[in-house]
Formats: sequence, structure tokens, C-alpha cells
Amino acid sequence: MTEAESQTMQGEGLEYLRRILLAPVYDVAVETDLTPLTKLSSRLGNQIFLKREDQQPVHSFKLRGAYNKLANLQEAQCIHGVIAASAGNHAQGLALAAHKLGIKATIVMPITTPDIKVDNVRRFGADVRLVGKSFNEAQAASIEYAERENKTIIHPFDDKDVIAGQGTVAKELLQQQPKTDVVFVPVGGGGLLAGMAVYLKQLQPNIKVIGVEAEDSACLQAAMLAGQPVDLAQVGLFADGVAVKRIGKHTFELIQQYCDEVITVNTDEICASIKDIFEQTRVIAEPAGALSLAGLQKYCKTSTGDESLVAILSGANMNFHTLRYVSERCELGEQKEAVLAVTIPEEKGSFRKFCHALNGRVITEFNYRHTAQNKENSANIFVGVRTGGEQERDQLLTSLAQQSYQATDLTENELAKLHVRYMIGGLNPTNSQERIFRFQFPEYPGALEKFLDTLGEHWNISLFHYRNHGAAFGQVLAGFEVENDEQLDFFNHLKDLGYQWQEETDNEAYQAFLS
Ligand SMILES: Cc1ncc(COP(=O)(O)O)c(C=O)c1O
Repeated sequence: MTEAESQTMQGEGLEYLRRILLAPVYDVAVETDLTPLTKLSSRLGNQIFLKREDQQPVHSFKLRGAYNKLANLQEAQCIHGVIAASAGNHAQGLALAAHKLGIKATIVMPITTPDIKVDNVRRFGADVRLVGKSFNEAQAASIEYAERENKTIIHPFDDKDVIAGQGTVAKELLQQQPKTDVVFVPVGGGGLLAGMAVYLKQLQPNIKVIGVEAEDSACLQAAMLAGQPVDLAQVGLFADGVAVKRIGKHTFELIQQYCDEVITVNTDEICASIKDIFEQTRVIAEPAGALSLAGLQKYCKTSTGDESLVAILSGANMNFHTLRYVSERCELGEQKEAVLAVTIPEEKGSFRKFCHALNGRVITEFNYRHTAQNKENSANIFVGVRTGGEQERDQLLTSLAQQSYQATDLTENELAKLHVRYMIGGLNPTNSQERIFRFQFPEYPGALEKFLDTLGEHWNISLFHYRNHGAAFGQVLAGFEVENDEQLDFFNHLKDLGYQWQEETDNEAYQAFLS
């Protein structure tokens, strides 16, 4: 770099500092707390803090950038109003900022946008136009409207005033915790990271700034590799707040200069962080909002410890129904559940024997269907086992191998976790009389094993489905091969078990898909 280039960059850095310090975001935003996460800190051997952007009036930091941009517009740029395409936090931030400044805002959203998001934006008086089936179509429409109606487009991240507005998060952070060692920042288009890094690195160069991306939307990492912003072929949708195909031009330049490192995390790791945030603050972070804490946790796996680490809880606009998915996946993210395919002998009592082979480990899932393909009297079961981490998973696999069980580790297998676990079933392949029952028992460690012990070995089990949902009661669906002359014995045995049960052999769902 020439002397002149270096001076230009320094000049630009100082210009950003000025913009950040003068950003009038507190007309509408609040200074958010920096909350210590005490339990997580002792678990990970570091002092961990969360910058609570969920406390903003629109439950995300996006208000800061949007307000700063609008506050800096010339009067002529506001006369016909401002416009943006967004179905997410930028839409709400911009709508509230415009409302506060008395500027007319138009937000273009895809027609598939959930009503709750549309209503949230309308609440602030914005004009919502539903156009196109995808974000790209909505964006194309917003550009057309802007040209035709003379509206000013407000970019969600690649704009100097937006970047400076987001940088005010760093200004607060330095005041609240000047002795910070590492700051983790979520990355979508890079506005928040660029704004925070340009501030922190100029004032406290020894603070490490790490960008965190979702593995399936890692547009910053792609740009780093290519040396310039490039399009990702596609982006994952789980962390929708950061589902951006291409990092911004301005943001990338700043990130290259001021950010130390970028790391990626997967969906399961994000889910585990949503749970940690909930446990410590009772706040439900949206996936993008928990992203940086997931990055922080990954960093702790290889760091020396005893550092002061800050993650940004950047948003809490969670789609309620996503919670079901989060709860399902978070144990995997914490490496607390191993998912295995195990071959066991096709004989009475082999479920029980297998459970005992787990040496007291808790079974989280157990799926089996007797099939015509079961070869050489062996059966495949799909099983989830609670473990203390990766190392314990390896020990479990070794111990099963020593006991002659053939086990395949599916813990990292998306197909298994997303689909196959729900599809183990199929029609009864034999002509045997199958009777189907639902059982309920109080859930506690070892409850499933006790259930199998009590059931005994007398009847062949032809179908079994159990999933521990964390509820107080465990639910099992089981099929038994019961010959006609054994019916009486069988029902007497069921009565003696002491579990709640209900026959489902005539259930239409069983008849349609499993009988
Ligand atoms: C909750 C949340 N976190 C992080 C981001 C990423 O911000 P940026 O696009 O500035 O990188 C967004 C973007 O909308 C967001 O909504």
C-alpha cells in the first residue's frame, strides 16, 4: 500500500468515527445493557457478556442504522418518501425511524411474508406493498417504484450512514466494558460488523473483532477467499436475518481492514445458543440474534480461557413456530445427543439387551420397524443417546463395537436428522397378527429401560417409536405380534404392567400407513 493510499484509508476511518460519535440514534433507540452470562462464563472458563439489542423498541439493532441514515438525508430526498425491500428487521427499523422523523416509508415485501411481520410494519404507519414470490422479486419491484415515484432507497447495510448507525453499538460497549478482549459480531451483509470494527479497532486496537456467519450463508468468507464480494449460489433460510447472498462493497472494504477473523457456525450450534440465551436471560433470540454467541462458544473450544468475551444478541424477532425446530436440534448443537443407526439381533429381548449395553446412558429416541428386508435375523434401529460431548460419543461407539454391535454415527447427517428419523415405519411386512398400543410413562433417566424390562420378552415387538421431547411423560407407540390363542395372556400382561396404555390397532392413521 502506498503512503497516499494509507492516508486515504486513515482519513476514511476517522470519518467513520466522526459519523458514529455524531449519530443521533438515541432519539429513537436506547442504550442497551451488557448482561454478564454467569453460568455460561463458569462453564466455558471466560467472562462472557451479551450486548442486549433485543431491548431496542423493535427488538433488533437495525433501528440504529436506519435512523441515522434518515436523519442525515437532505430534505429533497425525503419529499417523496423512502423505500426498502425487506421482510425482516430492516423493515421494522426503517418503518419506526421514518415514523419518528415524519417521513413517508414504503416497504416492499414478498407476498409470502407472514401477516405478523406485515402488521408490525404497518403499525408504524408504513405503506406495505406485497409483491413477488421471493425477496429478489420484491427488491426488483422496490427499485422500479423508487425510480417511478422518486423515492429514496434505504439500503439495509451497504451505506455509510447505516454502517455508522450500527457502529453506535460499539461505542456503548467500550463505555460499558473497556477491558474487553474479543467481540463477536453476527454477519449478514456486514453493516453491523463493519460499523463496530471500524470504531473498536481505531480506539482499542488490542480488542479482537471476530465476524460470525451461518455456515449456509457465509458470503463474507466467500468474499475473503475471492478477494472481492461474490454471489453465493444460494443461502440457508434458518437464520433469516443473515440470509444474504453477497456481502456489501463498503462493508467488505471496512471488514478487510478492521476485522481480525471470520468464523462460521452451523444450525445446531445456533440452536444450542438460543437455548443458552433463554436459560440465562429468559429472552428468546431469533437465530441471527444468537449467531454470535454460537461463534463465541466455538472460539472457547480452542482458546486459553480467562478472557473477557462479548457477543451481540442482535435480534429477538423469533417466529414462534421455529421454536419447535430449535428445541429439537439444540441438544445436537451442544453435542449432547448422538444419533446412531445400530444393528441388533432380530429376537425377543434384544431391545432390552441393547438398552443395557448403553451403560445407563439416557435414550432420547428409539425407532424400529420390523421389515421384510431385515437380513440374517438382524434389525436396524434408529437411536438417540444423550452424551456429555464428542469424546463421550466416541467412547460410546467404541463400547458398542466391543459388545459386537454394528453402529453408524449419524449425528452429523442432515438427511437422518431432518427426514429419516420421522420415516422409520412402513407397512407390516409379515402376515402375523400385529396389535398396536400407545403407552405413557413418567419420564426420568432410565424410564424407557424400565418400561422395556417390565414389558418382558414374551412377545415379539414389530414396531417401536419413542422420542423424548423433554416433557414430563414419555410416549411410546409399540406393535406386538400376538397369536390368536395368546390374546388373553397378552391383555392380562398389559394390565399388570402398571403403565397407562391404549390400543390403536383400529386407528385410521395406523391402518393407512403402518398396517
Ligand atoms: C437479528 C440480526 N442479526 C444480524 C444481522 C446482520 O446484520 P448485517 O446485515 O448488518 O450484517 C441482521 C440483519 O438484518 C439481523 O436482523
